[in-house]
Amino acid sequence: MNNIFGTFPTSRPRRLRKNTQIRDLFSEITVSNQDFIKPLFVIEGSNQKEKILSLPDNYRLSIDLLIEEIKRLRDRGIKAIMLFPVIDQKLKDKKGREAMNENNLLARAIFAIKKEVGNVAILADIALDPYMIHGHDGILSKSKDYVLNDQTNDILAQQSLVLAKAGVDMLCPSDMMDGRVGVIRKILDQNDFIDVGIISYAIKYASNLYGPFRDAVNSAQNIKNSDKKNYQMDYRNKNDIFKEVSMDIEEGADAIIIKPASFYLDIISKIKDNFKIPIITYHVSGEYSMLKMAAKNGLIDFDRVFEENMIACKRAGADAIIHYWEYSNNCVI
Ligand code: PBG
Repeated sequence: MNNIFGTFPTSRPRRLRKNTQIRDLFSEITVSNQDFIKPLFVIEGSNQKEKILSLPDNYRLSIDLLIEEIKRLRDRGIKAIMLFPVIDQKLKDKKGREAMNENNLLARAIFAIKKEVGNVAILADIALDPYMIHGHDGILSKSKDYVLNDQTNDILAQQSLVLAKAGVDMLCPSDMMDGRVGVIRKILDQNDFIDVGIISYAIKYASNLYGPFRDAVNSAQNIKNSDKKNYQMDYRNKNDIFKEVSMDIEEGADAIIIKPASFYLDIISKIKDNFKIPIITYHVSGEYSMLKMAAKNGLIDFDRVFEENMIACKRAGADAIIHYWEYSNNCVI
């Protein structure tokens, strides 16, 4: 039988897998440090380094140590970092006031990094959960079971302006309010921050994989048993992905984030096929820590499985990946 793909014995696909050189020559996907964005957690004080138990090899760092860590990452070829503040419980409230304070921890961190470290892009998460006593990403209704959209957008816009003034390169709204990209773009432009970019979490599922992160920013104790299902997306659906991405592009997003990564490769692939916009996927805390714990128990070789996982994300269509891996000198990538 003849078809365009040929048949055995003339066709032998294994010829292209014969040895390392031939396999490398024909490999379609590669991953490098250039594709990676490293999340970092900042705390108050000086010379402070706290181990994050739920997120192996990751730390909460005070600004001085954070600067050293960013220099180290930059020297290993990392192009961008993404910052998250760990806010003192005393500064948390129900309005997210501290997010609008021009001298808040994150603003001070960004300002200091911009002054001390060159050649690395600074991204910052936009959402109110680090600042809220209840751990939600926005203002709660009186009934306390619903996050109010438009009232939250007003504060997100102010939060964005504070970080733009501090010198952030790109803002990453992760709150999932409708219309927030447009509101943020508008306030940035009105204040002449026309070059501050927006990488929106266009697609963020109400996933069960964010646990170690909530522990890292100390919001697990605030959110308790509540969930974020009235604003983050329902992972039983896939029709709404097109509307979410279209809206964000129309409102001014420069690139988008799809989160989490490994369980959502079908979603990444669909967006890649339907839109021409850079896609970043977020390999979230739960995904990372599961691999680390499996490696610790001798079940997998972390470096190899991690590389396979990153390649899968890129094969699905991601242009870059946010992840928590502590890069090692002898890493295979
Ligand atoms: C908060 C935010 C979360 C993450 C990034 N930004 C947690 C959440 O939505 O509850 C999770 C990241 C991770 O798990 O690695 N807006």
